[in-house]
Formats: sequence, structure tokens, C-alpha cells
Amino acid sequence: MNRLIVNARIVNEGRTFDGDLRIRNGRIDAIGSGLTPRDGESVTDAAGRWLLPGMIDDQVHFREPGLTAKGDVASESAAAVAGGLTSFMDMPNTRPPTLDAQALADKYAMAAGRAWGNYGFYLGASNDNLEAVRTLDPKTAPGIKVFMGASTGNMLVDDPEVLGGIFRHAPTPIITHCEDTPTIDALQREYVARYGEDIPAECHPDIRSREACLKSTELAVGLARKHGTRLHVLHISTADELRFFDAGPIQGKRITAETCVHFLHFARADYARLGHLIKCNPAIKDASDRDALIRAVADDVIDVLATDHAPHTWEEKQNPYTKAPSGLPLVQYALVSALEHVHAGRFDIARVVQKFAHAPALLFDVAERGFLREGYWADLVLVDADAPFTVRREDVLSKCGWSPFEGTTFRSQVAATFVNGEQVWDGSRLLGEPAGRRLEFAR
Ligand code: DOR
Repeated sequence: MNRLIVNARIVNEGRTFDGDLRIRNGRIDAIGSGLTPRDGESVTDAAGRWLLPGMIDDQVHFREPGLTAKGDVASESAAAVAGGLTSFMDMPNTRPPTLDAQALADKYAMAAGRAWGNYGFYLGASNDNLEAVRTLDPKTAPGIKVFMGASTGNMLVDDPEVLGGIFRHAPTPIITHCEDTPTIDALQREYVARYGEDIPAECHPDIRSREACLKSTELAVGLARKHGTRLHVLHISTADELRFFDAGPIQGKRITAETCVHFLHFARADYARLGHLIKCNPAIKDASDRDALIRAVADDVIDVLATDHAPHTWEEKQNPYTKAPSGLPLVQYALVSALEHVHAGRFDIARVVQKFAHAPALLFDVAERGFLREGYWADLVLVDADAPFTVRREDVLSKCGWSPFEGTTFRSQVAATFVNGEQVWDGSRLLGEPAGRRLEFAR
């Protein structure tokens, strides 16, 4: 449908200005002021709300195929668009894992017509699929995921020869989960000896320790420097790892860093209240880490903001420590949680848009998305900056049916989301049909 959005407070490419935006045939036709409706165009009065490019989440676990009791592409992408996330890049630790071109093709076929947002799927690396990594068609995946620490799905790559081969030959960016598994295993053995399997949840950051993160991130950055690899280190959770990353715009950087909204929101004291609901890998650490990560977003040291949305069922989360899985559902409230930092004056709205939309588009060569530009796809979010609401379980769209943010009051709300020019969210309901398309990588 062709549409004119008027009276918006547009945030794009470092600028915030009042204006209008015309959508035609799914794309942004014009951005300007004083635009007037044409025949057959529907008009949306933004009434001064923020108009942002849709967020691009470069790290989600939507669980399909094989783990669909936790979530699936339809349910989790619905939660994502309700949260203002219009594109997602999904991880390979599914069942079966995504380890070759055929598994990748199967995922794209599975998502067609069912995804509310635009989708891309990573190829996973393993200790024995170097050939699939080397021969990956770079147009078919945003990047190659390397678990340099074991997590959900048992996809650890720890053979030094294979790691060297991946870093040398990858035809796309490599994205890594960095936590040193031998360090973690030794610590977990100590804690099991002390507590049995009922280890208190607040010990999680001591078991999945900062030293484990530091050691693995150092290894990844060292390999990338040696081989000239385009490396993106996911979910930085400690102040200590920030020393490996340079400040400045993402353009031209060969080594970049991502952090996730939960590391900017929660800290060690929250385990007492939320227990395993905030157990994730890497672990949420200290308040001083959280504050350093917030500063690193403000100072352009962290390049990308994402979620690592990783739903598990409520029942699974009730298990004792050693059996409770790691990961939390986040997409639906990720943007509004990031915007809390804007309200608190820690960084500005343009920074959120840069880290959550522009930067992932640039990093992964996403074609025609991530910016408000004429000719680009109309992936848009309208945000009501001052409309406080409290997260309730009954509003959660993720299949797992719970949120670590239940009871939290956020100051802003996603008032509308548009994907490829179609409105799919009106602030309280999904509208129409899934409108997501396969992401294209211009490389
Ligand atoms: O907490 C996590 N959950 N970290 C990961 O690396 C994987 C994820 C999952 O798939 O559950």
C-alpha cells in the first residue's frame, strides 16, 4: 500500500529533524517536508513521534528447525516486529545445525512466507566443515558463526588448525562467541564440588567468568590480526574485553564488537530476583561492566547493538543450575530497553539508530536497508517517546510466553512497525500477513 507519513521526528544518519516520508511500492519514495498526499495514498499522522529505520538484529536464535517448543520463525519474528526489529540474522545452533549450503537453503525455504521481518541465516563452523566454510557463497549468508566457546547446541570449534583455516579462508565476516571452555569447565567442576547441581544462580558470572571471555576474545582478535580476517566479536559482556577494540565509525574497521541490550540493563544484583531467567552465555556480570559497556556504546567503541534473543521454556528455566539452559527472550522489548538509556541521557537516539540499524547493515553489506534513504526498502518504526508502559506476561508474543522484563516500566513504546512498506504492528496488534523478505548481501 502506498502511504504518506507526516509530522514525524525523523532520526537517521546522525541527524534528527521534523519531516514526512512517502512509501511507494514497498520502498521509500521521498523524505522531505510539506509532502502532500497523492491519490490513493493512505496518510499516517506521526504526531511528532520518532520515525526510525527498522532495527536489524544481527544475533537471534529463532530455534527452527528442531527446537520449536522454544520458538519458531513465525512466533519470534512476530515478537521482533512488535519490538521495532524489522530484520534478523539467525544463528546456526538449531537441530540439525546449519553446517552446509543445503542446510542453509533449507532454512531460507522454511522462512519464506512465514517471517514477519526480513531474514538472513548464518552458516555455522565446526571442527570438521572447513570445506563448507571455504566454499560458502557470500551472497547466501551474512557471515560465519564460530562458537569459540561451547554454549547451547554443542558447536564448539577448538581445533587450532581448523580455527586458523576458518580465519584464513572465510569468504564473509566471521562472528564469534568468545568464552574459553576449559576455563569454564574447571570452574564449574569446583562449584559442583561445593554445591552439587543446585549452584546459586548468582554464581553464573563466576563460572562463566570474565577471564574466560578475555582469554577467548584475545585469541579471536589475535587470529584476525594474523590472517587479516573481518571479525565481529559478539555479545561483549565485560569491561576488560573493550581494550581489544578501537573507537570510531564502523566503516573501515576489520575488527568490531557487539554488545546486547541485556548487558546494558541487568547486572549481578539482578540474579537474586530473576535467577535463571537471566542466565545466559556469556553471563551478565557486574554493574561496573554494565556501566563500561554503556560508555563504550556512547564512545563508539562498541559497534553494534543486538539481542542474542534465545528463548527457552519456563519449565526448562525452573531446573537446577546445571540443567537450566542459558538464554533469554529479548526481541520484543529490546529497542525500548535501549531507549531507556536515551531518556537517562547516557547516549542519544541517533546512537541507538546507528548501532542497531546502520552498523549491522554496513557490517554485513545488507542491500537497501538499515537507513532512511530514497529507494531503500521501507522498513520503519514509529516510537512514542513518552508513553510509559509496564511489561506484562500476557503481552509477550514469544512462544516461550515469558520475559525477563515482566514488571519493568519502559518510558517509550513502539507505536507502529512497517516491513517492506506494509504496516505489520499498530502498537498493540499484528496486522496483515508476514511481510518479511530474504535479506540480500551486496558483496
Ligand atoms: O545464552 C545463550 N543462549 N548463549 C548462547 O550462546 C546460545 C544461546 C542459545 O541458543 O540458547
